[in-house]
Amino acid sequence: MARQIVTGTSETKEDRQLSADSIRPRSLEEYIGQEKTKQNLKVYIDAARMRHESLDHVLFYGPPGLGKTTLAGIIAHELGTNLKVTSGPAIEKPGEMAAILNSLEEGDVLFVDEIHRLNRQVEEVMYPAMEDFAIDIVIGKGATARSIRLDLPHFTLVGATTRPGMLTAPLRDRFGVIGHLEYYSVEELTQIIERTASRLSVEIDSKGAVELARRSRGTPRLANRLLKRVRDFAMVRYDGLVTERVAADALDLLEVDQFGLEKLDRDILETMIVKFDGGPVGLETLASSIGEDSGTIEDVYEPYLLKTGFITRTPRGRMVTVRAYEHLGYDVPEP
Ligand SMILES: Nc1ncnc2c1ncn2[C@@H]1O[C@H](COP(=O)(O)OP(=O)(O)OP(=O)(O)O)[C@@H](O)[C@H]1O
Ligand SMILES: [Mg+2]
Repeated sequence: MARQIVTGTSETKEDRQLSADSIRPRSLEEYIGQEKTKQNLKVYIDAARMRHESLDHVLFYGPPGLGKTTLAGIIAHELGTNLKVTSGPAIEKPGEMAAILNSLEEGDVLFVDEIHRLNRQVEEVMYPAMEDFAIDIVIGKGATARSIRLDLPHFTLVGATTRPGMLTAPLRDRFGVIGHLEYYSVEELTQIIERTASRLSVEIDSKGAVELARRSRGTPRLANRLLKRVRDFAMVRYDGLVTERVAADALDLLEVDQFGLEKLDRDILETMIVKFDGGPVGLETLASSIGEDSGTIEDVYEPYLLKTGFITRTPRGRMVTVRAYEHLGYDVPEP
């Protein structure tokens, strides 16, 4: 879907390029927002440094684009160690994970993105690795098979997931530090946008930055991406400066409304109102009636709609709120 490329929060090639250049924060100091997580991390990192030990394993969870990968890089940077990056779906066999673990150096950070997608056998390699810094390797077959234990350097596993509920209990229990990333406030996003703008030499005034921040659904990745689109628009249609008016016009064109809702968000709300009388409606039913994957709705769309108060969750399913009726211009039904 073309729409997703501009307004979705999942990572695109352009984002990776953006992150590769100077806009991804490298130190805790440069990282804006997530104050609670940052303060905790700072204490643990300082303590690990003082004791000359590896940092406890860290798990980050939260919606896409809020800075989990960025934080993993920052942890390695602050510890002064190497960062190795892999992801749950990239590792198919236990031996592949064993090889990665075996290649680590003392104190290194191993980042496993989408850690909830590690398969069972690979996950089992992680248990002794995380707990005892060792892996068990089976040599031989059948009756002569025996297992030998290989010691690993002390490393820090940083796991990231958008779906903490899908993590198995034994894996989750092996993380010493758990950080929940939350949507950013408009003030924080404004700072992030101004920082990115200055690094990319985009001219933007403070009202322009606020307008963009308000429509970036609490997500730095989207804020940075929309900034680039708005910059293009400012260059072609205006004199290059991103003002409140320019930002609003450009974002209207991209169908991002004043609450940061994009077309699919509005489709979700509208379907709930028109087809399901406002709910309650189950996730699967809703997903199939708008033709979108239920996991995507649950991980990407629903958290923001909940946070902004357009829907609520009840034991019987999702319901729209009065706010949703009003925003989409429908009459609020009599109670
Ligand atoms: N606190 C922050 N301050 C400034 N920029 C940030 C911050 N957090 C994230 N960013 C920017 O947002 C982009 C997305 O962040 P990141 O890739 O770390 O998200 P993520 O949580 O790993 O997403 P996903 O779940 O999709 O992997 C990065 O390129 C980074 O530049
Ligand atoms: Mg990431």
